[in-house]
Amino acid sequence: MKKQFLSLLLLGLIAVACQKPGTNTTSQNDSGINTKVEALLSKMTLIEKIGQLNQYSSRWELTGPAPEGVDSMSLYNMVKEGKVGSMLNVTGANATRKIQAWAVDSSRLGIPLILAYDVIHGYETMFPIPLAEAASWEPELAKKSSRVAATEASAVGLHWTFAPMVDIARDARWGRFMEGSGEDPYLGAKMAYARVKGFQGDDLSDETTMAACAKHFAAYGFIESGRDYNTVQIGDPTLHNIVFPPFKACVDAGVATFMNAFNTVNETPATASSYLQRDILKGEWGFEGFVVSDWNSIGEMVPHGVAVDKKEAAYKAITAGSDMDMEGNAYINNLEELVNEGKVDEALIDDAVRRILTIKFKLGLFDDPYKYCNPEREKVLRCDEHLAAAKEAAKRSIVLLKNENDLLPLKKDGLKIAVIGELAGSKDVPLGSWRAKAITNSAVSLLEGIKNVGGSSSIRFAQGPAYTEGLRSFTTELNINTTDRSGMSEARLLASKSDVVVIALGEDCWQSGEGRSQTDISMKGFQQELLEEVYKVNKNVVVVLMNGRPIEINWMAENVPAIVECWHLGSEAGNGIAEVLFGDYNPAGKLPVSFPRAVGQQPLYYNHLHTGRATNGEGNVFWSHYTDQSKEPLYPFGYGLSYTTFDYSNLKLSTNELTEGGKIVVEATITNTGNVAGEEIVQLYIRDLVGSISRPVKELKGFEKIKLEPKESKVVSFEITTKDLEFYGASKEWKAEPGDFNLWVGPNSAEGMAASFTLKKMN
Ligand code: BGC
Repeated sequence: MKKQFLSLLLLGLIAVACQKPGTNTTSQNDSGINTKVEALLSKMTLIEKIGQLNQYSSRWELTGPAPEGVDSMSLYNMVKEGKVGSMLNVTGANATRKIQAWAVDSSRLGIPLILAYDVIHGYETMFPIPLAEAASWEPELAKKSSRVAATEASAVGLHWTFAPMVDIARDARWGRFMEGSGEDPYLGAKMAYARVKGFQGDDLSDETTMAACAKHFAAYGFIESGRDYNTVQIGDPTLHNIVFPPFKACVDAGVATFMNAFNTVNETPATASSYLQRDILKGEWGFEGFVVSDWNSIGEMVPHGVAVDKKEAAYKAITAGSDMDMEGNAYINNLEELVNEGKVDEALIDDAVRRILTIKFKLGLFDDPYKYCNPEREKVLRCDEHLAAAKEAAKRSIVLLKNENDLLPLKKDGLKIAVIGELAGSKDVPLGSWRAKAITNSAVSLLEGIKNVGGSSSIRFAQGPAYTEGLRSFTTELNINTTDRSGMSEARLLASKSDVVVIALGEDCWQSGEGRSQTDISMKGFQQELLEEVYKVNKNVVVVLMNGRPIEINWMAENVPAIVECWHLGSEAGNGIAEVLFGDYNPAGKLPVSFPRAVGQQPLYYNHLHTGRATNGEGNVFWSHYTDQSKEPLYPFGYGLSYTTFDYSNLKLSTNELTEGGKIVVEATITNTGNVAGEEIVQLYIRDLVGSISRPVKELKGFEKIKLEPKESKVVSFEITTKDLEFYGASKEWKAEPGDFNLWVGPNSAEGMAASFTLKKMN
C-alpha cells in the first residue's frame, strides 16, 4: 500500500517536473541527446546511476568542512568504480585530464566526470566582485567578465562554474553580500541573465564555455540577522516578487544547473523543499537542467532536525528534486537501500541521472572527455587582453559618493600626494573573496595605480597602523589589529606635508564572503582614528573605500570632501581607480544597495512597504522611525555622482491610461550641464498605490546608461506595459491589478521627476 502511494506520488512529481518543456538550455540537438541518454541509462546498474548523483571535492582544496570517511584513496577507487559523477576543486589541464582518465578509462561505462569550481568573478584574472560589477548597471559588462572567466576556467579543464550567485541581499551583516548583485530584483535579474549568457555562450559544447549554476535556491540572502547559514522566514509574496526574479532570469537564459541552499525556508530546508525544486523550478519554470545540493546541505538536514540520519535526509532530498549530492555522502551510501526497500522509486533516480547525463552530453564530454584539458590553452590565463577587460570592468564599477568643491579629479602634475593606509598598498585585498585561482598579491595596488597614472605628481606612501595581522586566507578567521598603533604619526606627518591625501579604508577582502557575518559594519581596527588624525592636519582628503558590503561611514560622509566607492575591484583595481582619481575616466557607477547610517537599520532596502505610520504628520513619537537615528539610508539605492552634472527635464507620458495589451511610452530629457563628458544611469521607478497586498514604495522598472558630451541633451524613453506591473499578490499568481500608479524618472531611488497613470480595469 505504502509502495503504491509512493509510486503515485512519484508519478505526480515526475509529471510536474516534466510539465513545461524547455525554455532552456543550449542549441544542441536535444532529441539526439535524449536518445543517447536513454541508451546509456538502460545499460546502467542502480549503483552506477546513484554514482552519477554523487559529487566530491578534491581532498586538497576544500571549500567547506571536510566530511568523514572519504580520503584521496577511497575517492580514486570510487571514481574508478563509477560511483562518482562529478568532482569540484580539481583544477589545471593536467590534473583534470588525470582524474578524467580514472573515470573514462577505468569505470565500466566510462562516463566522464563533470568538473566544477567556484568561478565567481574570474579564474586567474580577477574582475570586480559581483556586487561591485552590479554598480556599473551594465549587464553587457557582466556578460563579458563571465565570458573571460569561462575562457580561462575552461582552459584548465573545468566544465561547470558554481555561478552566478543571484541571491538578493538586504542585510549588510551578511558576508556573502559581495557575491551577488545587491538588493534589487530587477537589476539582479538583468545581471543574472547576462552572467549566464557570458559563462555558457550560445553552445555548451564550445570548449571555451562552461555550464553555469544559479545559486542558492532559495532565499539564502534572507537569513535571520545576517548570520550565515541561519534560518529564513519569508512570506510568499516576498519569495515570488523579490527572491525569484533573478533565478527565473537564469532559467530564461538557459542556465544548465541550479544549486539549492543551506538554509531552511519557513522551517523546511531548501534542499528538502519540493515546493521550490519541483513545483516552482522544474514545474512552473520548466527547468530541464539539474539541481546540485550545496556543500553537504543534504547531510545538514540531520542537524536541522528534519531527518534522523543521512538515509532519511537522502530520501527527503531526492523526493524534493535535489539531483546531485555535493560532499554529503548521503546518496551514495543510502539510495540503493532506499530503492531496494521500496521507499524510493528508481524512476526518481532515473530522472536525476537523465538530467545530469544530458548536461554532460551537451558539454560534449562524451565526444571528447579531454577536450577541455589542453595545457596549450592555459596561456590565456591572465593574458593582456583579459587584464585589459578587468581594468575596464574595474573603472566602470566605481561609484563617486561625494566630491565637494571638485576636489576630484586630481591634477597629474605639481601635486604632492600622500597615499595612506594598508589597503592602499595591498596587492591582495583588491582580489576580493571567492577569488578562484587568483595569484596571491597579484592585483595592481592603489599605490601602484596612482604611480602609473599620476604623471609627474610627487607620490609618497605611509601605511599607518597595520590593519590586519597573521594569516589571511579563505578558510581562516581574520585578525584585525586593535593593539599596535605604530605608523599613526608617520601617516599624520606625511599628510601634513602633502597637498592632498588619498586614503584607502574599508574592509580586508577576507572580511566578506562565506562565513563572514559581522554584527558591526563600521570600519574596524584603527581605520577611523587614522582618518581623523589625517584629517586634522590636511582637509583635502579623498577616501577610497574598499569593501565587500555596505559599511557605516557617517563621520566620513559628514567631514571629508571626497569619497570614492571602489569595492574589491580585482586584478587591475589600482589602475582603474587611478584613472578615476585623475579624471581619465569619469565615474558613472550607482549603488546597487542602500548604504545604512547604522547597523541597527538592517535590513535596509529602498523597495520596502509603506507602513501605516510612515511620517510624523502630528509631530508625536508614535510613528515608524528610530529615536536615535534617521530611518533613511546615508546613500540611497541607485545613487552615484559624476565629474559633471545632469539635469532632468520634460517628463512626458504618451498616455495616462494603460489598458490590457497597450503601453505607455515615458520620455525624459537628460542634459549634461557640466564641462566634461559623462555617463548617467537614468532610472525608472513606479509605485502601485493600492493592491490586493501592500506594494513597495518604489520599484525599479527600467534603466538606461547614456553618455553625454558637455551641454548635450538626450531624450531617454522607456515603455511600460501591463507585464511590467504584474506581481504575485493575493490571488497567488502573477498579474497586474487595475488602479493608480506613481512613476518617477530620476538619478537614484530617492529623487526624480514624478508623474502618474492609471491601469484601466480589464474585461
Ligand atoms: C557554498 C557554495 C559553493 C560550494 C562549493 C559552499 O559552501 O555555499 O556557494 O559553491 O561551497 O565550494
